[in-house]
Amino acid sequence: MKPRIIQVGRLQASLEKALAAEFDTHPLWRERDPAAFLAQHGGQFAGMATSVRSGVDARMMDALPALRVIANFGVGYETIDVEAAKRRAIAVSNTPDVLTDCVADLAIGLMIDVARGISAADRFVRRGDWTRAQFPLATRVSGKRLGILGLGRIGAAIARRAEGFGMQIRYHSRRPVGGVPYGHAASLVELAEWTDFLIIAAAGGAATRHLVSTEVIDALGPRGFLVNVARGSVVDETALVRALGEKRIAGAGLDVFVDEPNVPLALLELDNVVLLPHIASATRETRNAMGDLVIENLRAFFATGRVKTPVA
Ligand code: 8YV
Repeated sequence: MKPRIIQVGRLQASLEKALAAEFDTHPLWRERDPAAFLAQHGGQFAGMATSVRSGVDARMMDALPALRVIANFGVGYETIDVEAAKRRAIAVSNTPDVLTDCVADLAIGLMIDVARGISAADRFVRRGDWTRAQFPLATRVSGKRLGILGLGRIGAAIARRAEGFGMQIRYHSRRPVGGVPYGHAASLVELAEWTDFLIIAAAGGAATRHLVSTEVIDALGPRGFLVNVARGSVVDETALVRALGEKRIAGAGLDVFVDEPNVPLALLELDNVVLLPHIASATRETRNAMGDLVIENLRAFFATGRVKTPVA
């Protein structure tokens, strides 16, 4: 008998197909009344596939009394109540490593785009403005100072890439990371004061909420750029929108927002902001690798009782 897996929200088509081929899956998102469905059938499911968009809270776990494993499509898992899972002895996996390179690539891309005005210059050419004017001078990236918030796998991959641009690199994290050649800033304000570019690569969730505050934004200052490939929640978005509008920072490259897919309307008007629809891991290669890892985690759990990549 194939293990029965509940699929909370939509996943990419290839993963849904692969899950259905190997397990007895049920799409909860197709149910008109998911709570009623779970009240009646919740006891049948030993596994779950979810993503940060859908997550799973303690209440849903209560409705799934036979649940033993949750496989998350994505490295971030702040919408999964991991403590509640631990108390119920439910294993939780995510998809680290396989997306590191693509997320780091995009962070560097956003940094260069917002500094050099690639997207803004593209709009300039398309509008026909080139025949009438010169595109304004932009900001150099090579050799500048890069501050990274969070030096985990993704932060470290961003730093390695930035070395290729001759950048000076420092970082801030709760604890200094051993074995890296980059200086640790004791506070985020200190890092923001020092740096030309601040890239956010920290995990989301309550512990990092609004770390990038008005004070940090003002420390970055009118010549500083902010790039976020982590979670919208790490930034006080209202403060950021205000600072961008008032030119208290030079610009921002944002792949993530507080209320996705809704982007603050004020940002749409600004030329010094690059706005992306949460695509840092969204390449065919990486998304397929993430999907494969979801399957491998479930397969490993049902074969051995352990997932391959448990959350920290
Ligand atoms: C995911 C992400 O693609 O991994 C993460 O934490 O944010 C993205 O890579 C997204 O969460 C999938 O829903």
